[in-house]
Amino acid sequence: MKGIILAGGKGTRLYPNTKVVSKQLLPIYDKPMIYYPLSILLLAGIKEILIISTPEDLPKYKELLGNGERIGVKFEYIVQTAPRGLADAFILGEKFIGKDSVCLVLGDNIFYGGGITLALKEALNNKEGATIFGYPVLDPKSFGVVEFDGNKNVISIEEKPENPKSNYAVPGLYFYDNDVIEIAKNVKPSTRGEIEITSVNNEYLNRGKLKVSLLGRGMAWLDTGTVSNMLKASMFVETVQNQQGLYIACIEEIAYNQGFITKEQLKKCGEELSSSEYGKYILNLCKEEK
Ligand code: G1P
Repeated sequence: MKGIILAGGKGTRLYPNTKVVSKQLLPIYDKPMIYYPLSILLLAGIKEILIISTPEDLPKYKELLGNGERIGVKFEYIVQTAPRGLADAFILGEKFIGKDSVCLVLGDNIFYGGGITLALKEALNNKEGATIFGYPVLDPKSFGVVEFDGNKNVISIEEKPENPKSNYAVPGLYFYDNDVIEIAKNVKPSTRGEIEITSVNNEYLNRGKLKVSLLGRGMAWLDTGTVSNMLKASMFVETVQNQQGLYIACIEEIAYNQGFITKEQLKKCGEELSSSEYGKYILNLCKEEK
């Protein structure tokens, strides 16, 4: 299974914050936003990861994350010259995906909760077709929204509907088999001129190969679409981390727990960052017996 993080877009809704810095590089509390979706791929055990961003921003992601060796994974990078839509990730990433299956995560989506590992495991076990998620939100209008029939069977996914047919939004985390490349290539652009991920999902649904896994209580999917939501997400992370003393989305810790790096390598990661609380947290982990 390959992984793709889409970190494109101009982030105009966050201007002037994003005039010179890519949205997914802005901090959510103590680490760049992209660490959160990256940590999800690492938790899923995915070690080959493609990062897609704009020509201006991609060099900064390379500087931040390098080739991945530091945390025992492999990062590749591809430029997206224009925001053609989320499904473009599979066209740009065709060579990278090869004959494999692929997980796409959006660079601004934050997930947290004990149930996430199980949800990932189930998605990874579903080898054929697609697995996406449904997450209840109060106002789903700005998302892809799941429509169910009376028996809770999914009958369609609607992109940003005026009148949502349920309160289940589709978060930016998608698992697909290799057919996604051919499906993405045949998607017709929407009225906003983009090849929508929702069209890809509806095609899987038409083929009888879409699984929508419903998430609920005990799981957080945090929105980072506005400055106010970014602040709330930062406060959420701060609250959990300072209460438990356990970090959310510490990519070095996850890489170590997954067996991608040794304790020696973990220690080196901590030493590089030792002036910050984040670095000190990593160094503390090295002291623990395991
Ligand atoms: C995109 C998708 C939408 C999904 C959302 C999750 O929206 O098109 O279906 O619910 O991501 O973050 P966009 O980021 O284009 O507004």
